[in-house]
Amino acid sequence: MSKVTQIAHPLILHKLTLIRDRETGSKDFRELVEEVAMLMAYEVTRDLPLEDVEIKTPICTATCKKLAGKKVAIVPILRAGLGMVGGMIKLIPAAKVGHIGLYRDEKTLKPVEYFCKLPQDIEEREVIVTDPMLATGGSAIDAISLLKKKGAKHIRLMCLVGAPEGVKEVMNAHPDVDIYLASVDEKLNEDGYIVPGLGDAGDRLYGTK
Ligand code: PRP
Ligand code: URA
Repeated sequence: MSKVTQIAHPLILHKLTLIRDRETGSKDFRELVEEVAMLMAYEVTRDLPLEDVEIKTPICTATCKKLAGKKVAIVPILRAGLGMVGGMIKLIPAAKVGHIGLYRDEKTLKPVEYFCKLPQDIEEREVIVTDPMLATGGSAIDAISLLKKKGAKHIRLMCLVGAPEGVKEVMNAHPDVDIYLASVDEKLNEDGYIVPGLGDAGDRLYGTK
């Protein structure tokens, strides 16, 4: 069964409040999403395996730790997931970045795929899917299914805000995928928006609508 982790760090919750605020404009919104993604990346990568390496410090030879084996791929769900990538590659600069393009049909709320480009060795990588919003869960479920079809074996999902309904759907569809969020909100409204949420993440990031 998926593990669901809410990363309720004071800095993350403070910044999330600013992100939610309707008065926050695109420039600040983008910067805050990037900062929160960076802070969350710290927790999402907590269990990455380490190995011992011997190095020479200016003083002596020392056995120290370094990330072992498994390499990371960050896969944003376009468009909004892209807003989280900058913060994450600051912390994991060797990560490769894949892209999955999905948009939610406004009437059916079902995701429609329009782009997919992944690192060739995706099956060997620890994949972190990013999307600020987990609403009905349809986009995350389809993106993860696509990744599995392309060979990915180790996948985790990282979102800023989720609705309980969407979290449950992803857990049912992909019980092997752990989910990390800054907040699980109250519910979805009749238009499929998260309440209280933060509105349309893609539009707020890129100033569209
Ligand atoms: C938003 C969001 C998620 C999706 C969540 O994207 O970024 O990808 O909706 O909804 P779901 O859980 O019900 O599938 P949107 O389709 O608006 O596209 P955009 O990122 O290009 O704005
Ligand atoms: N997509 C968004 O951008 N916001 C929501 O609240 C739901 C889906």
